[in-house]
Amino acid sequence: MHSRKLRVGLIGCGRISKNHFEVMKKLNHDLELVAVCDIEKEKFKKLEEINLQPKCYTNYEAMLSERQLDLMVLCTPSGLHPEHGIAAAKHKVNVLSEKPMGTTLEAADKLIKECQTQGVKLFVVKQNRLNRTVQYLKKAIETGRFGKIYQVITNVLWTRPQSYYDADAWRGRRDLDGGAFLNQASHYVDLMYYLFGEVKSVYAVNRTLARKIEMEDSGVAAFEFKNGIIGSMNVSMLTYPKNYEGSVTVIGEKGLVKVGGVALNKIEKWDFSQYHDMDKEIAEANYEPVNVYGVGHLPYYQKLIDHMRGKGANFVDGAEGRKSLEVILNIYKSAETGKPVLF
Ligand SMILES: NC(=O)c1ccc[n+]([C@@H]2O[C@H](COP(=O)([O-])OP(=O)(O)OC[C@H]3O[C@@H](n4cnc5c(N)ncnc54)[C@H](O)[C@@H]3O)[C@@H](O)[C@H]2O)c1
Repeated sequence: MHSRKLRVGLIGCGRISKNHFEVMKKLNHDLELVAVCDIEKEKFKKLEEINLQPKCYTNYEAMLSERQLDLMVLCTPSGLHPEHGIAAAKHKVNVLSEKPMGTTLEAADKLIKECQTQGVKLFVVKQNRLNRTVQYLKKAIETGRFGKIYQVITNVLWTRPQSYYDADAWRGRRDLDGGAFLNQASHYVDLMYYLFGEVKSVYAVNRTLARKIEMEDSGVAAFEFKNGIIGSMNVSMLTYPKNYEGSVTVIGEKGLVKVGGVALNKIEKWDFSQYHDMDKEIAEANYEPVNVYGVGHLPYYQKLIDHMRGKGANFVDGAEGRKSLEVILNIYKSAETGKPVLF
């Protein structure tokens, strides 16, 4: 596995699978898409459009039995990731799960455990961590440029019309998807943890204000971190008339930063009391996103390949992927009980 191409299988050829297929084309020296699976055959059409010719399956057990895979990518509805990942692990295949790795901690833990038992690796996609803008913010935090960080504000002010939820039966369902926090804002919850550390408590108010779905289309959550930082998240899928903002603002003793744009693609404010050489590069960190999924899948895969080839750590393993799931499920617990949840 150290020099040959990794043989990849992918299950769930829906919206996000395209990002994975594009990466596989770009990284074709390292990755070979040998098989895909979906229960809906028409989903295979997009493979022709991008000129990939894997073997197509409608049953994942058949794919796993017939193909010798090194990696199985899970792009199915979130609540199915544990079942599909466990099946792959039982065939001694490494697992790359789209976010979130499940919709309950019990199921996520079963997946983590099965991967450990079978001696295979588990990766969870958190590509927004690798946005250039986010990496600059991470570096500014790690080099202590803010002095003491007092407060952080994260906004995910996007739009998902009823037609989006109606198009796929799993959307907005507690068991398969979750609401705005677990689906659309889950990368932003992950960044709260990635940038500001372990969470001490959350208190949330979630509502389903307009869409006909089981879970929330709108929510606010207050955070206290173990290091004393306080923070808040505002999440709306009802923003008129289209996606407006995906941002993180940091208020520190010696600095103020806002990484914003529609999906963390622009550094809107970068102001520190002391100059650092990175300040010269900030204007070039901005980019225009093709969509709100961003451009992070490519660098994420590069890290995965390095790790599989024995270079570098697993950037987001099962334990790391579980963190944001735990925070989100505690946000749900708080919203449902009306009480703060202590970790
Ligand atoms: N990293 C990101 O930024 C990002 C962005 C979008 C979606 N996602 C995640 O990717 C996952 C998929 O989201 P999507 O928007 O592509 O959904 P989607 O509904 O467009 O695609 C899911 C696909 O899975 C297939 N499927 C369902 N059950 C199956 C089964 N048992 N066997 C085989 N195929 C099956 C469906 O037919 C469908 O084609 C979700 O977990 C979502 O949270 C991540």
